[in-house]
Parts: sequence; C-alpha cells; structure tokens
Amino acid sequence: MSVSPVVPHHIAIVMDGNGRWATRRFLPRLAGHKQGVDSLRRCARACVERGVGVLTVFAFSSENWNRPADEVSGLMELLAMALAREVPQLKKDGVRLYFVGERAGLSQKVRDGLAQAEAATSENTRLVLNVCFNYGGRWDIAQAAASLAARGEAITEASLHGAMGMAHVPDPDLVIRTGGEMRISNFLLWQAAYSEFFFSDRLWPDFDESALDEAIAAFRGRERRFGKTSEQILSAHPHPMPG
Ligand code: IPE
Ligand code: IPE
Ligand code: MG
Repeated sequence: MSVSPVVPHHIAIVMDGNGRWATRRFLPRLAGHKQGVDSLRRCARACVERGVGVLTVFAFSSENWNRPADEVSGLMELLAMALAREVPQLKKDGVRLYFVGERAGLSQKVRDGLAQAEAATSENTRLVLNVCFNYGGRWDIAQAAASLAARGEAITEASLHGAMGMAHVPDPDLVIRTGGEMRISNFLLWQAAYSEFFFSDRLWPDFDESALDEAIAAFRGRERRFGKTSEQILSAHPHPMPG
C-alpha cells in the first residue's frame, strides 16, 4: 500500500550521539566527533550507491556555541581538517558540497575552507551534500524575511522559500535523527513541514548502511497524504510501487 518512491530523493539527518559514543569508551567527546566524520563519509557513499539525490546533515547548530569552549574550537578544527582530507575524494565521487548556515559567526579560515570546498565540487551532479553548519531553522527563516524586507519584496511562502539557505533543493522527504532523542532541535523547521520522520536509537558513529536501509524501508511503508485522504492517494496511485 506504499505510495512513496523506492528511495527518498532527499534525506536529512540530525547526526546526534557523538559525545555519548565517546563517553561510553572513556574517550574525550572530540573522539566521538572524529568518528562522526567517518560515519558521514560512509553514509554519503551509501546514499550515492542507493541513488539518493540530496543528503542534508546537521553538523553544528546555532545553539552549539553554548558548549564548552574547547569542544567548540575542536569542532571548528575538525571541520577544517575534514575538508582538507575529504574534498578530493568527494570530488571524485561526484558529490557537490553546499554549506548552509550563518557564515558571519565563523573565522575567516573556516569561511575560506567552506568556499573552496564548494567551488572545488561545483561541477558535480551525483549527490548534493548540504552540511548545515552554524545553522538554525529559526535563523534561516529570520534571515530570509530580513533579506526580503531589505529588498522591499513581498513576504510570501514562495519568496521566503527562495530566500532561505535550502532554496537550491526540494524539501526533505525523510528526516532521520540518530541518538535516541525525539526532537527537531531547530533543524529545517520550514522545510520539514511534510517530511517523514525516523528516529534511531543508534549513536551517529554507529549509524551504518544497515541502519540507513532500515530508515529507507520505514519510509517506503509510509503513506504521504499532504493533507488529502487515503482514498484520494490510493486512487491517484492504484498500483503501488514494488517493495
Ligand atoms: C552531535 O553529537 C554532534 C554535534 C552536536 C556537534 P553530540 O555531540 O550532540 O552527542 P551527544 O548528544 O552529546 O551524545
Ligand atoms: C542537534 O544536536 C544539533 C546537531 C546534531 C548538530 P544537539 O545534541 O545539539 O541537540 P540537543 O541539544 O540534544 O537538542
Ligand atoms: Mg547531542
């Protein structure tokens, strides 16, 4: 009875649980974040293999500045290191990188790294990888409204959508949160209006291909009604997709 496509076009993930993964091993939290980068590499590759078009990940929230200073600076360094290490392979794999979030709060070094990574992968078309960094859904809605107001443009759903950081991709079909928490934590507040949600108890460093497949299988079992009735959906798709 599923009417969802076999693979969601756009998957968004709140990559949560790095700190707990490390603490359980008596390691510093940053060791968990490093492991989280490995998990993201594996997940992006799995998305390419499965024909996912867009992967959006939450890497650093507007509120994560409130963490201890050494964790924040460690995360900034890890971002710079990960870019230097991963971009050549991402380029080869056909992954196009975008960074979504407020750049003004980041150091010039980090900003340069983000711009270079985006430019280096700008010709790629296999997978769009949006990394939400210094991002908050409330920030995005507010900055979009402010930029429309500054240009004297009317504020409508369409104009707001176009002024937001995620305007270059369709809304996520599936939003996954790892780490067992069942909250959105200021991620994609606008864009997740009709997303399907999947919550995994796995900590992000443990979220592997089988966990991704479990989330995709759950998505396939959902009936997306977008406000309509089940009967309307079934009559528009009398032959459900296999799976
Ligand atoms: C998610 O893992 C990564 C970031 C927020 C940067 P956490 O660091 O939140 O891990 P837990 O939730 O403390 O285990
Ligand atoms: C959400 O995780 C942000 C990221 C994964 C980057 P948090 O760990 O910051 O969320 P809360 O604080 O538990 O809601
Ligand atoms: Mg967390």
